Amino acid sequence: MQKITVVGAGNVGATAAQRVAEKELAREVVMVDIAEGIPQGKALDQWESAPVEGFDSRVIGTNGYDEAAGSGIFIVTAGIARKPGMSRDDLLKTNAKIVRDVSENIARVAPDSIIIMVSNPLDVMCWVAKEASGFPRERVIGMAGVLDTARYRSFLALELDVSVEDIQAMVLGGHGDTMVPLISYTTVSGIPVTQLIDRDRLDAIVDRTRKGGAEIVGYLKTGSAYYAPSAGAVQMAEAIVKDKKRILPCAAWLEGEYGMDGLFLGVPCKLGRNGLEKILEVELTDGERKDLEASAEAVREPMRSLQ
Ligand code: NAI
Ligand code: 2OP
Repeated sequence: MQKITVVGAGNVGATAAQRVAEKELAREVVMVDIAEGIPQGKALDQWESAPVEGFDSRVIGTNGYDEAAGSGIFIVTAGIARKPGMSRDDLLKTNAKIVRDVSENIARVAPDSIIIMVSNPLDVMCWVAKEASGFPRERVIGMAGVLDTARYRSFLALELDVSVEDIQAMVLGGHGDTMVPLISYTTVSGIPVTQLIDRDRLDAIVDRTRKGGAEIVGYLKTGSAYYAPSAGAVQMAEAIVKDKKRILPCAAWLEGEYGMDGLFLGVPCKLGRNGLEKILEVELTDGERKDLEASAEAVREPMRSLQ
């Protein structure tokens, strides 16, 4: 791909840009941020690591969108974190305003691009981006399920003392406490996880997964996770750039799938050169279906408060 742009040169954005460059997923990697000097400085620093790391992707930082024109993919990480005295609703409205502005700029300079949304609250920001860009659902996809699933897989690998590569799993639903780790589809090299871990331990791992974001904030205090989140966004970008047809849990706009429509929710998606190429509808247990519906309601509520 000729160009990939990352919007927001903060923790997630800058780390994602570095990963994109190191993997040489694009000839040019552009970082856009409103903070003067930050994207320029970080991009130059990253580019100066190229001779050591051995990549030829050119990294550029900017405060505008001219350099981003014609990008094939935008990874959107722009936003603010909740500050003292700020309600969840204030944060929602502030980030919605930022994501709307960013998405309008994307549609202006790269009308055929694909947006990978990362900014929180994730599922709602995907909707804001879809509305503001006017892009079809194939070209607005949210990153959360890859992160939540990576957390779940790493906790399971730790529990069993096996390679993370041998854990197959999928976490669906919205990116929040109501996410739905699918125990019925969790296997260790094809062996159902329920044959290897007691139900009580599994429930504890599911609970830790649901609170995975808060666990990191608890340690960092002044920020949230960014190594695993940036890895998740870049895995999605790689699936698109290389047309890999990967099946990954992503936030996608539902049009009747799982009996729901008119919202973004984490579901199994096939990603290839066209972006979202298919949503896979898998059978769920009654409990999983109920949990997915509860998770959808937790996404609809903030959507209503923005209308
Ligand atoms: P950060 O605060 O380090 O970086 C955010 C950057 O956005 C800042 O550099 C800021 O200047 C920039 N920004 C603000 N308004 C902008 C605008 N209008 N245009 C361009 N840039 C703008 O935050 P961090 O840690 O990088 O997180 C970014 C977002 O990603 C947050 O909303 C966070 O909650 C979310 N996130 C989502 C995850 C997911 O699984 N979906 C995981 C981790 C973070
Ligand atoms: C996370 O799950 C903050 O959404 C972010 O780490």
